Amino acid sequence: RTVKVLEVSPVGQLKRPDEFFEIRLEYPDWSGWKPGQFVMIRPTGWELDMLWARPFSISSADGDTLTLFMQKVGRGTSRLATMKPGDSVTIWDPLGNSFAVEPDTPTLLLAGGIGIAPFRGYVESHPNPENLNLFLAHRLPLECYPFGQLSEQVSGQCMIEEKPEDLDGIIETMRSLIKEYAEKDGLILSCGPTPFMRTVKRFAQDFGARAQVSLENRMACGVGACLGCVSKDGKGHHVQVCTKGPVFWTSNIEL
Ligand code: FES
Repeated sequence: RTVKVLEVSPVGQLKRPDEFFEIRLEYPDWSGWKPGQFVMIRPTGWELDMLWARPFSISSADGDTLTLFMQKVGRGTSRLATMKPGDSVTIWDPLGNSFAVEPDTPTLLLAGGIGIAPFRGYVESHPNPENLNLFLAHRLPLECYPFGQLSEQVSGQCMIEEKPEDLDGIIETMRSLIKEYAEKDGLILSCGPTPFMRTVKRFAQDFGARAQVSLENRMACGVGACLGCVSKDGKGHHVQVCTKGPVFWTSNIEL
């Protein structure tokens, strides 16, 4: 469907001011959304550019609007970053599955960089946000992320990777958090770059933790038609991330 842009706003005071931005869309008469789902989006006018539609996690939504948190990385996101209120985009209704919600279970949210995007909606819609703990590992200044906003609602910590040796501290913190949540039979949800989620999977296996990852595979169609998004499941079979995911239990996906 074609919907109107309500607002595009940079997030934080950055050295690179338009690197991260939020785009808010008018989105009336839709039947609902669950945190972890994504939309495919294409700037209107790019219909002939069949290859340019991209998946983005829904960051938050209510009955009439939908917000996406994006990083400007190429031609399409640069175009989206410069859209004005009233411009239109083509969008596929919420696609894919969603993160598990266990209201009374201690739940650890592990975000790598822009992987924080779906957790905003997760926190906002969770019935018991006091059971949530958010960890963010990031490279850019913290103001780039909606972390401050979220850490007012849940407990949280963040670590920055400024130099290579910082990575050891991040990995060690992830290890001890995953161990802690495995010991209390908590739930672990993660979203971030593939190496980040590979680390989550490894520690989840080591400690027997219940953990889900949200994959960021490239997608062309978003609806199971092109096979462009295939990964392997825990038994080595091909799975389409757009229709079977993007959220998988770590035991059910190869990374
Ligand atoms: Fe086309 Fe998944 S993106 S099959």
